[in-house]
Amino acid sequence: MDSAQADWITRETVTNFRDHVNPGFLEYRKATDPARAAAVVEWADAGPNSYRDVTGRTYLDCLGGFGIFNVGHRHPKVVKAVTDQLRRQPLHSQDLLDPLRAMLAKTLAMLAPDGLEYSFFCNSGTEAVEGALKLARAYDPSKQTIVGATKGFHGKSYGSLSASAKAEFRRPFGPMLPNIEHVPFNDLPALHDMMTSCRAVGEDVGAVLLEPIQGEGGVNIPDDDYLPGVRALCNEFGALLILDEVQTGMGRTGKMFCCEHYGVAPDLMCLAKAFGGGVVPAGAVIGRREIFAKLFDNPFLHTSTFGGNPLACAAAIATINVLIEERLPERAATLGARMLGEIQKAVAHNSGVAVAARGKGLLMALEFPDHATGFEFAKHMLDRDILVSGTLVNARTIRIEPPLTIAEEEAGRVCQAINESLAEISQRRPAPVEG
Ligand SMILES: Cc1ncc(COP(=O)(O)O)c(C=O)c1O
Repeated sequence: MDSAQADWITRETVTNFRDHVNPGFLEYRKATDPARAAAVVEWADAGPNSYRDVTGRTYLDCLGGFGIFNVGHRHPKVVKAVTDQLRRQPLHSQDLLDPLRAMLAKTLAMLAPDGLEYSFFCNSGTEAVEGALKLARAYDPSKQTIVGATKGFHGKSYGSLSASAKAEFRRPFGPMLPNIEHVPFNDLPALHDMMTSCRAVGEDVGAVLLEPIQGEGGVNIPDDDYLPGVRALCNEFGALLILDEVQTGMGRTGKMFCCEHYGVAPDLMCLAKAFGGGVVPAGAVIGRREIFAKLFDNPFLHTSTFGGNPLACAAAIATINVLIEERLPERAATLGARMLGEIQKAVAHNSGVAVAARGKGLLMALEFPDHATGFEFAKHMLDRDILVSGTLVNARTIRIEPPLTIAEEEAGRVCQAINESLAEISQRRPAPVEG
């Protein structure tokens, strides 16, 4: 594309966002200047780990589409599976038996933690969580309370939003679903007290819904004994454990599913984001037979027209194959540990700019003292052609979440850019006043 075409697309995109999508996005985008109708407008993938904009500039992807691109951008095996299926049959009859859905469900039963044998397929993370909440309530109608965690994020439809914890996202849309409570994350006594109180007033807890590591809440990693403790409390109170692995699943944290780090098997597990290989939107809730049995008499109790469509199933099966063949979870563990070490060194080296760096596998975050510094850091990274972004907390926590296929050399570039960006912010700060 020549520069006149690139200018035209950029102007059109900025104006159309302003007039027909939401002008708020222009304020938010780091690289946008609405006054000049200038912006980074993406156009194509550039290899497995980068984007190219309309001007031909490339950006290394350290956001991974908020966790979509675990197998990289346009992995050839995923693209081939999807295009082969596209030529044969993109969408299913809805009435006959579709073979790929059956094969994907069997594959997941082999892959998922013990006891998870049945799958319901959908198109997104929020739908996976809705499915899990409905299954949990149907399983034992005498226990209707769901407990989530503060700083938890599960999506933005009503059920998943009700289980999420960020006031800003909930307040405009109230009232939320009833009988959903929240306790502080990583606090077993608080969960025990909540379950005890709910039982005492006859509003027993039917399910506890958690992310094993809170992604949008700021990459919050629990103590090693937290999830096993939650599992034990669920067993004690007869509640189901729902783990939302929408962001932590599919190898991201160094295991296929994050709960494997803690030796905990949930009763229901939610997947989406990277499940479709970064090619087709896809989600799933996977659960124990006795829970899914509530749908056996009438499988139409909970359905989705597009959920489990042949394109999505082809993408998910190919994605699982790639993750296993290329040993990407293991790669996330080793490369993530090395990168985190480097990033922590950079934080220590430029003391006071960032307050902490933490992570597991290739789900990492840098924490800043305030939103403005985090935002400035993200801008510095973009100037170095690396895309990073805040979490839903805000830019105070910047996530580093590259594709698991990121090359060693690219990982080194990221760590160097982080060091340089922190140093630049540090140098521009006014010197402390003596005396
Ligand atoms: C843990 C978790 N659950 C659910 C969701 C919602 O997924 P979706 O945006 O596909 O509805 C997200 C999205 O960020 C997530 O991180």
